[in-house]
Amino acid sequence: MNFVSVLEDIATKDLQELENCVEQAISEDKFIYETCEPLFNGGKRLRPVLFLLCSRSLGDCPIEKTLPLATALELIHTASLVHDDILDNAQKRRRVQTVNSMHGAQIAVLVGDYLFAKAFQLVAQGNYGSKIDAILSMLVKDLCIGEIMQDRAIFTVPTMTEYYDRINLKTAIFLSTCCKLGAIIAGMEQKDIDSLASYGTSLGLAFQIIDDVLDFFGDEKITGKKIGGDIKSGVINLPVIRALSVSDEADVLREIVTRREVTQSDIDDALEIIKNTDAVEYCKQRADSHIDSARQNLPFVMKSSVSLALEQIADFVVDRSW
Ligand code: FPP
Ligand code: MG
Repeated sequence: MNFVSVLEDIATKDLQELENCVEQAISEDKFIYETCEPLFNGGKRLRPVLFLLCSRSLGDCPIEKTLPLATALELIHTASLVHDDILDNAQKRRRVQTVNSMHGAQIAVLVGDYLFAKAFQLVAQGNYGSKIDAILSMLVKDLCIGEIMQDRAIFTVPTMTEYYDRINLKTAIFLSTCCKLGAIIAGMEQKDIDSLASYGTSLGLAFQIIDDVLDFFGDEKITGKKIGGDIKSGVINLPVIRALSVSDEADVLREIVTRREVTQSDIDDALEIIKNTDAVEYCKQRADSHIDSARQNLPFVMKSSVSLALEQIADFVVDRSW
């Protein structure tokens, strides 16, 4: 499942090429293929789609030029999810068993490393130059810092600033980087590159806020991952932060979310407390306001078909159920 349905035909052909290239990237080794193919079968392809769309901001950009980097972005993202699932001890991702749950954490570390190395092999083959290489290295460093920050803070309630720093590093910077890379490849002026990067940042903040809501109130069959995973792994996110500041039962909620061992019934209690507040509405309003900023940052010079597609993505991010 990807964005084809949302984007009508603007990215359809590019996406087919991307799928072929991803398939090829994981086909060199039988174990890697068997382990990763089901994982790559899910996923929205949001990052490569943003990159590919932005690369066409000013006109046609040959797909041969962008494909290796688009594929690398999806591989880096999936590598980070494989590692994230080890950290979270997650059992399901994109509707299939996680690599760690099937083969153990040790093998999962190596599978993530493999995907990561394959991504950089593609980038090297694409010969994009040191500017793009440096942006990608910076991205991966930020992702790692975001995860370290999150892991060091588990079972503690973050301030709003800490929460935003974390979601910026672990999600928004990635979406922003995809837009920025596309804009650079398109040959846009610096001010327009910066605007598209800001679009990506706002989109990413909204995306992660909605992700955090879905972690509590999504449908497992649709999101493809377990509900309540964040509470179990001690990650305290926006719906909880909000509920803690407005609920009459904040003390009970705080006790549950900061406890290292929770049962399903504790999780259900926490969900009930959150549900009895305006937390979901509050998160949606925040996400909506980031989406408004995202829209305002779309540069005027862009081809109208591309800016329309980026607006459709913005709508999707807040309305999505997966
Ligand atoms: C999912 O977030 C995870 C991330 C957005 C980033 C994970 C990054 C790393 C593990 C470090 C970088 C590693 C490499 C190999 C590049 P989430 O846990 O909020 O979402 P979820 O509910 O989908 O798990
Ligand atoms: Mg996770």
